[in-house]
Amino acid sequence: MYNEYYGLVRAPFEMTPDPSFLYLGEAHREGLATLVYAVNSGKGFVMLTGEVGTGKTTLLHALLGQLDAKTNSAFIFNPRLDPLGFFRVLFEELGIGPACESKAEYLLTLNRYLIERLAAGERVLLIVDEAQNLSAEMLEEIRLLSNLETPTSKLIQIMLVGQPELQALIDKPELRQLRQRIALRHHLRPFDEEELAEYVEGRLEKAGYTGRGVFNKRALRELYRVTQGTPRLINVVCDGAMLLGYARQESTVGPDAIREVARDLGLVPKDEAEEDEVHKEPARASRRRSLRRFFRFGR
Ligand SMILES: Nc1ncnc2c1ncn2[C@@H]1O[C@H](COP(=O)(O)OP(=O)(O)O)[C@@H](O)[C@H]1O
Ligand SMILES: [Mg+2]
Repeated sequence: MYNEYYGLVRAPFEMTPDPSFLYLGEAHREGLATLVYAVNSGKGFVMLTGEVGTGKTTLLHALLGQLDAKTNSAFIFNPRLDPLGFFRVLFEELGIGPACESKAEYLLTLNRYLIERLAAGERVLLIVDEAQNLSAEMLEEIRLLSNLETPTSKLIQIMLVGQPELQALIDKPELRQLRQRIALRHHLRPFDEEELAEYVEGRLEKAGYTGRGVFNKRALRELYRVTQGTPRLINVVCDGAMLLGYARQESTVGPDAIREVARDLGLVPKDEAEEDEVHKEPARASRRRSLRRFFRFGR
């Protein structure tokens, strides 16, 4: 709703992994390069971890966009499936039909499909997102898939993507067979302060902004402090702060607006928030309350 006010043609901080907003700073460029390398070199098993909202799923979409027609990929993002459900989704994703009756039948059919693809000079890639939610049973199934190989090459490449808990899951002693197969691991870090500034400015630009900057330097510093460089949080806070700026008819956002939104979102520790509250004079506090009401009902 604030787009027009800031001279934008589309929303700058949407929560979708829209590839036209892709920003490749060092962290994400490195992550993407690792994934591309893993696929191209037939590494077998690869793991990508990162905290919630750091951009793992966004990177996967970017990867899928870079793969050529010789790569058949299956993207599974609901890993709370049982083995039969998992195979059903895998077959749908790869366009193998019809559905089978049993796991053994699925495995036989899959093996045949993989050998055909190899003969055609193609690759098959299985990506499991949110893999920290996989059950031990499913992890074992996936490990067994990686047994599908010819004497000279792997038939399927598997990419497990998830939150840092995935690392802990894989490190369990009973999963050592799986662990030993992981040829490549990468941990996606959040943005540093410089990347954060480039990211925010880049998104505004892609949304059509041509002004002299919505967020001033101190606002960006505060933004880094409250989000620790996590893209998803940056989006939420920027969106809220721009809405607040619009409500106040202030075309530049300062650190106070960032702090205010961060507090409403619970990103700032409570004692810090209270301390801030005490120092506000009553008139300002009441103005803030009405703005907050606007903020809540305004969209
Ligand atoms: N490199 C990036 N370029 C552009 N937007 C990004 C990037 N990384 C993250 N985002 C934004 O942050 C949001 C959260 O990222 P996401 O990939 O869903 O994180 P994760 O899967 O790690 O939880 C995305 O919807 C997207 O808007
Ligand atoms: Mg994700």
